[in-house]
Amino acid sequence: MRISPPAATAAHRWLAGLLLSAASAVAMAQAAQPHVVVLATGGTIAGAGASAANSATYAAAKVPVDKLLAGLPELASVARVSGEQVFQIASESFTNEHLLKLGQRVSALSKQADVDGIVITHGTDTLEETAYFLNLVVRTNKPIVVVGSMRPGTALSADGALNLYDAVTVAASKDAAGKGVLVTMNDEIQSGRDVSKTINIKTEAFKSQWGPLGMVVEGKNYWFRAPVKRHTANSEFNIDEIHALPAVDIVYGYSNMNTTGIEAYSKAGVKALIHAGTGNGSVAAQAVDSLKALRGKGVQVIRSARVPDGFVLRNAEQPDDKYDWVVAHDLRPQKARILAMVALTKTNDSKELQRIFWEY
Ligand code: DGL
Repeated sequence: MRISPPAATAAHRWLAGLLLSAASAVAMAQAAQPHVVVLATGGTIAGAGASAANSATYAAAKVPVDKLLAGLPELASVARVSGEQVFQIASESFTNEHLLKLGQRVSALSKQADVDGIVITHGTDTLEETAYFLNLVVRTNKPIVVVGSMRPGTALSADGALNLYDAVTVAASKDAAGKGVLVTMNDEIQSGRDVSKTINIKTEAFKSQWGPLGMVVEGKNYWFRAPVKRHTANSEFNIDEIHALPAVDIVYGYSNMNTTGIEAYSKAGVKALIHAGTGNGSVAAQAVDSLKALRGKGVQVIRSARVPDGFVLRNAEQPDDKYDWVVAHDLRPQKARILAMVALTKTNDSKELQRIFWEY
């Protein structure tokens, strides 16, 4: 059927109008979506194995952030997502300089009015330390979510894609604001302060003795509790004022403990030493004098425990008041080290340090 020119022109105009309004509707919908920035640092979530059967043998930190995001088109229904490759490393190789650089970038993005939430993809080995560090020093109420995976994306039943989808969901959620830095792994929303990697090759690796804050299922958050310790906007620490982190190291308690490690760290000039003691943070009799001497040199001694759960009781296994030592409360040694470094940027007073360990 031939259409007369005027009618064809009118039809074209109608179609063009329709397409234009559809395109502007899509643009308006996308503009209305929350904007989530994904900062990629490496790890298994960016890993690749030789075959799909390699769920535990693979190379970490291979897949760039744009490929990670391109592999997850479902994100388009959750948020407007942009990606930045901050590092591409396995997280066991994180240094204090990596922490500072990442923290500065997160802080800068959190100040941008056009950024609603931030996701950090990270290796799982030290994910808990980075999450706690950001929880202490980034002054924002906007959702910050750290996420990793236990299997590379090339593996059968890989967990990274859903973990990342969940992380963007939470980071795009208004109800995730003000809850501190969060970690989404294995359908759970964990507190960056409380969570630790507790199993080295299972997808349900991340646990907190105080339990998750909630769950995220099919794009929806279900909250069951909120953190009570100080964090983010309510912190006295600010990454924008921290340009270096002091040397803080960890010694491990065990049967036949000796003082070689303590003496070596003393010579190296640590500013604080975390003692990961047996039981309730016990210190072997043969190590007490070395720790007292360290304190005498002005180095802070902080009693944590190699036992993962519970909390170190002040003046129980050791006379902390008498020795002027600090206890790490419920913080595992690696987290106690993070808090000690941040706290020492503000004070070297042991009573102030103990207050900080109670509050954060
Ligand atoms: N090399 C470890 C890391 O980057 C891999 C573990 C993981 O990311 O799950 O932390």
